[in-house]
Amino acid sequence: MLNMNPFCCPSCKNPLSATPEMFTCVACDRSFPILNGIPDFFLVEGEQEAIDVVSAIWQDVNVVKARDTFYRLCTRELKGMAFCMQEIARRTGVGTRILEVGMGTGHFTRWLADVSAPGTEIYAFDCSWPILQTAQANLHGLSSVTLFRANARRTLPFPDASFDILLLRLAPLGPHGVPNVSAGYQILKPGGWYVEAGWDREQYEDTWTNWALKHGFEYAEQHTWQYHRPVTEEEEHAWRIERAAWPADQKVTSSGYFSNVKMTTENLLIAQKPQISIPTERNNL
Ligand SMILES: C[S@@+](CC[C@H](N)C(=O)[O-])C[C@H]1O[C@@H](n2cnc3c(N)ncnc32)[C@H](O)[C@@H]1O
Repeated sequence: MLNMNPFCCPSCKNPLSATPEMFTCVACDRSFPILNGIPDFFLVEGEQEAIDVVSAIWQDVNVVKARDTFYRLCTRELKGMAFCMQEIARRTGVGTRILEVGMGTGHFTRWLADVSAPGTEIYAFDCSWPILQTAQANLHGLSSVTLFRANARRTLPFPDASFDILLLRLAPLGPHGVPNVSAGYQILKPGGWYVEAGWDREQYEDTWTNWALKHGFEYAEQHTWQYHRPVTEEEEHAWRIERAAWPADQKVTSSGYFSNVKMTTENLLIAQKPQISIPTERNNL
């Protein structure tokens, strides 16, 4: 549901005028349709090519259904994400703006909405229509959440420095070659919090916390969890459908046996943007 018009033109960053059917840029006249209540900012020429090969699987309705089943069964059992939600919740209050990048089926978005203080505004986007439709169904009735469609690899429909908290879980952010942390830094207000979560952490040339500090953050902490978690056959089946769709070089080999206990690894980075920008190796370049 749209609370108001929080968006600007993703191309030229000027204000948008709104009708129930579309947003139109007051400066460049580009228009952005609103389909079933979801504004579509994924329109710039060449955007489709900017979607990573690995992300193409999220256009497949069966893969999306499998992921929806998987997260319906396990989201709230994830110990790392439970900690992550508590950490985000205590940083929220009236008017806090959260952006969730590549929110997938919306299970984490719903969790965010459940734990955030009243008056928190949550904006969540993805590039896949099947994913957005699933998230819309899962988020039904939550007025604190605004869904929209956009490409995380392109400019977003917000001015720079307009969010207090950014949540990124297993999704890309920024053009190819620009690190997630760097793109996230641009989006955050001074003093804002960058939160990146996932299973195994991305491999960088440095520790994750150093990586964040090198990209301008003044504070960073990293957490890792490893634990055995009971799983049902339904969850395992959904997981296998999803994994079977991954490109060959990304596939995780599996023994084919069902085990009712799964080793789960989670990683989390929390980093704070300084109130005043500080010189770093990177932003001095
Ligand atoms: C691995 S899933 C993670 C979803 C969710 N964050 C989670 O943790 O379950 C990656 C998500 O990012 C979305 N995505 C991938 N590339 C994207 C892009 N360039 N712009 C927007 N969303 C993207 C996919 O459609 C998919 O929903």
